[in-house]
Amino acid sequence: MNKKKIALITGAKKGIGLETARQLGKQDVTVLVGARGAGKGKAAVQKLRKEGIDAHAIEIDVTDPASIKSAADQVERDFGRLDILINNAGVMLDDKEKKPSEQSLDVWRKTFDANLFGLILTTQAFLPLLRRSEAGRIVNLSSILGSITYHAQPGSPIYESKSYAAYNVSKSAVNAYTVQLAYELKETNIKVNAAHPGWVKTDMGGAGATMELEGGAKTSVELATLGADGPNGAYVHMGESLPW
Ligand SMILES: NC(=O)c1ccc[n+]([C@@H]2O[C@H](COP(=O)([O-])OP(=O)(O)OC[C@H]3O[C@@H](n4cnc5c(N)ncnc54)[C@H](OP(=O)(O)O)[C@@H]3O)[C@@H](O)[C@H]2O)c1
Repeated sequence: MNKKKIALITGAKKGIGLETARQLGKQDVTVLVGARGAGKGKAAVQKLRKEGIDAHAIEIDVTDPASIKSAADQVERDFGRLDILINNAGVMLDDKEKKPSEQSLDVWRKTFDANLFGLILTTQAFLPLLRRSEAGRIVNLSSILGSITYHAQPGSPIYESKSYAAYNVSKSAVNAYTVQLAYELKETNIKVNAAHPGWVKTDMGGAGATMELEGGAKTSVELATLGADGPNGAYVHMGESLPW
């Protein structure tokens, strides 16, 4: 078996996904840069290759089942297995002027399509390839905004952050799914964990965010490269557990 690890990162043409690909690539992992739209990952791949990273573009739109299937077929054909799946693609579509009860159902549906159902379908499609790995790792990009405990707790860091209800609840669902899947996989070589990257300067996080990209990719990279003694079914930011 080719000993070099192979990682697929969805939504990796920019932001935390691209930086995660870079940091994994620097650890000698072959990185498959997932991006939606034909040729969209190519510029990112070229950038990474110039830095000496073994990077390949994979077209994958996590809201399109046909695109997910064709990405899984491509990885099977070209690599025969997958060691790391980082479900990084995500959207934040809420109208931040609206209260939780006012966000449109369209926003709820589109948010869940990408952040939850897309993540589930991508995981289902790649699980057979991860089962062929000696140590499969799945990292689900959650957020501290998915913590129901913090949302219900006056004075918590996010108690007042109710302007993104659809996004917040989609990430709570990602957490819940992570726990379900971790239970299913507990006797296997695969570990699945949820990551809060921090509040990171990206198109989604905005310029006012407190963390740079480099730090923002650290939790994903750490969970992607866990040893056999690492956690399964955890919700983590920078090595520390978050309350569900
Ligand atoms: N930034 C933060 O502070 C922060 C905090 C907590 C959690 N997160 C999570 O971290 C992850 C990465 O966020 P980011 O800040 O790097 O955001 P970003 O810069 O907006 O990047 C999001 C990526 O997801 C891709 N994407 C969106 N919908 C997709 C779809 N249907 N199929 C495939 N790719 C899709 C985007 O592609 P396009 O360019 O084609 O739109 C983009 O590459 C997200 O899951 C986010 O919720 C971020």
